[in-house]
Amino acid sequence: SSQIRGALNAVRSLVEGSGRAGGELPRAVVTHSSGNHGQGIPAYIVVPRTAPRCKQAAIRAYGATLVPCEPSDESRAETAARVVQETGGVMVHPNQEPAVIAGQGTIALEVLEQAPEVNAVVVPVGGGGMIAGIATAIKALRPDVKVFAAEPCNADDCYQSKLRGELTPSLNPRETIADAVRTNIGPNTWPIIRDLVDDVVTVSEEEIKRATRLVWERMKLLIEPTAGVGVAAALSEQFQAFPRDLEHICIVLCGGNVDLSSLTWLTEGPG
Ligand SMILES: Cc1ncc(COP(=O)(O)O)c(C=O)c1O
Repeated sequence: SSQIRGALNAVRSLVEGSGRAGGELPRAVVTHSSGNHGQGIPAYIVVPRTAPRCKQAAIRAYGATLVPCEPSDESRAETAARVVQETGGVMVHPNQEPAVIAGQGTIALEVLEQAPEVNAVVVPVGGGGMIAGIATAIKALRPDVKVFAAEPCNADDCYQSKLRGELTPSLNPRETIADAVRTNIGPNTWPIIRDLVDDVVTVSEEEIKRATRLVWERMKLLIEPTAGVGVAAALSEQFQAFPRDLEHICIVLCGGNVDLSSLTWLTEGPG
């Protein structure tokens, strides 16, 4: 998952910071996540009970302690705060922490290096850490490149915020197959999104499923539906209506944790 970039940068910064200050290492790191941010570091990860089982299993397999919470931003924050108190750990916010945002920005550096002909980048948005990092790097180095956010209609707080010109979280976002972007953008990512993201494209659940399947079948890449949000956005009528000088479009295929047991043909029927 793309989430390792931000998490790694944040934990490295903590370790280097405590070394410079001559202090002790943090006793623990604590974060909350829809599942993808939780993989790769030994830590306490607060995860919604509804997160795909494959993400929960991977977090445990990497050696982290999984702490279940309810599937809402509020429950995530409350549970993480309790775990910080109990463990004496340091909270690393999965999308509002500046070091996480900066780590996610390395995606843009690689895109510009590998595909300098790019005219536009399409990025799925949950808490907005990934797009904030990418937009900061892109607009600093190549302001001519457009940055588009992609969001499920069922969790469209970024779209609503841009429309109103103020941070507008969804208090009760609907269910979406793109579980990793059900969460809201926040106080650190909103100003960057407001100033540097060109537009937000929203897509239906049907469009997300169709786009995810297209990538599996035609590209032979195992993306998760959250990555399909970006593909669906680029294929949407709204996107196609944008000016035609967008010839080279980069879609960030941000994750590939698919609950294979949710594919009914694998588990049902003879064989
Ligand atoms: C696969 C995947 N894509 C996109 C995102 C969204 O990133 P952000 O919350 O920084 O917008 C996440 C976040 O967990 C993710 O796991």
